[in-house]
Amino acid sequence: MKGIVVYDTSYGNTKKIAETIAETLKESGIEVDLFDVKNVKKLSGKEYGFLVLGSPTRFGTMSFAIREFAFAFVHIEVDWCENTFEKPNIRPSN
Ligand SMILES: Cc1cc2nc3c(=O)[nH]c(=O)nc-3n(C[C@H](O)[C@H](O)[C@H](O)COP(=O)(O)O)c2cc1C
Repeated sequence: MKGIVVYDTSYGNTKKIAETIAETLKESGIEVDLFDVKNVKKLSGKEYGFLVLGSPTRFGTMSFAIREFAFAFVHIEVDWCENTFEKPNIRPSN
């Protein structure tokens, strides 16, 4: 199974955590792509079996860039449904 780790960062903390998660998964034999959300242009959900989202806390919630990505990713979820993957819970609660 191949997964994706997408993070946002301003000062590097979330980047470090995302890199550690990706490295740890790779060490366990799981294939992972790692992206700074600012560099994500287009993604196919069919390529991935799971998603890890990393965001700094901004005013009590996720960053704008991660929120925007999460909402855009809803379209990809349709493909995931067709592939009978379980939907990741990536929608913001507020
Ligand atoms: C504008 C702004 C708003 C923040 N709001 C919160 C907050 O509401 N709660 C919190 O615990 N930390 C808050 N923080 C702290 C950041 O979440 C924290 O420094 C985080 O590690 C930054 O991640 P980064 O290094 O990946 O950018 C805020 C930081 C900034 C700059």
